Amino acid sequence: MVIVPQFRTQRLLLKAISVEHCDSYSRHFVDYEVIRHLSSAVPWPYPEDGVREYVKKDIIPNQGNGRWDWGIFLKDSPDELIGAIGLWHPGVPENRGFWLGTKFWGQGLMTEAVEPVTRYAFFDLGFRNLMFANALGNQASRRVKEKSGAKLVEVIPGAFVDRKYKKKEIWELSKSEFLKHHGEDGICRRYAESDRYTRHVWNISRIWKLAESLDAIEIPVEDIVGLDSVTWFSPDGDKPTIRKIAEHARRIMEADILYPPILTQDNRVFDGMHRIARHLMQGSKTILVKKFTQNPEPDMVEQLRP
Ligand SMILES: CC(C)(COP(=O)(O)OP(=O)(O)OC[C@H]1O[C@@H](n2cnc3c(N)ncnc32)[C@H](O)[C@@H]1OP(=O)(O)O)[C@@H](O)C(=O)NCCC(=O)NCCS
Repeated sequence: MVIVPQFRTQRLLLKAISVEHCDSYSRHFVDYEVIRHLSSAVPWPYPEDGVREYVKKDIIPNQGNGRWDWGIFLKDSPDELIGAIGLWHPGVPENRGFWLGTKFWGQGLMTEAVEPVTRYAFFDLGFRNLMFANALGNQASRRVKEKSGAKLVEVIPGAFVDRKYKKKEIWELSKSEFLKHHGEDGICRRYAESDRYTRHVWNISRIWKLAESLDAIEIPVEDIVGLDSVTWFSPDGDKPTIRKIAEHARRIMEADILYPPILTQDNRVFDGMHRIARHLMQGSKTILVKKFTQNPEPDMVEQLRP
């Protein structure tokens, strides 16, 4: 069974939509100002109990099965669904849809919500590119796409709940464009910790930013957890071939030890294992590190078992 992961952003929690969210879903969604921008496939007037039917029949049975739907919640009100975002495959032609309750518009919340979902689409679900669509004239939706690096492909006829909309814009976002827009190289570097039930994942680009304000402290190299674990290789990932070992050896030799590695609250390594390996080769007894006294919230929480 595939379980849709939870994402945490600065202000939001994104989690799988369930039946208990139907009341708040209806409160924020069943509003002409929201629905008028959506495809004419969405009924208006919206049927009573339409949200419950949709959640039960369309969303829940298809979660993780060609379709991934998240409810959007403010972190300080984690039971009140204020919007939703979904991905689907194959596209029709678009692969994503979203909406937000009107009183939450204009605060950058959807821009914040699309980021982890896009990352998940590219790095976990294996999408090569994402197609989006919006009514020509829906400036807010268009802007969310532009801000993530999507490129306008074409304008074609389209039917929306608001009949004044006659055309739709089709957008494309490639993985490389998305990464370029976020100032990253082609690799989405992440750190994960798992127990039997959950996997917590942190994006290293965020960890770097958060670690900027930490002071470097000196600790014994031997206090670092993981020095005797298999780290860069695994049965399902990279194998320790000569080429791969040579690649890591080169990275160790090139590692700039002036930058302190970044450690978790319990001395695991968020980032900097090649620098630590260089210290080991040099026989250093102590090392300067940046260490979180309390780990930041993970960017993604995956439930591994129901
Ligand atoms: C589209 C929607 C999700 C945007 O959510 P949001 O949280 O308000 O979006 P953000 O605040 O992250 O970004 C909106 C951007 O559009 C801009 N914008 C909003 N209205 C605009 C307008 N009329 N003209 C020009 N720009 C506009 C905002 O200024 C902001 O851009 P900025 O950050 O450069 O200033 C929300 O408006 C909504 O739910 N609309 C109804 C449903 C909908 O349209 N869904 C999408 C269907 S394709």
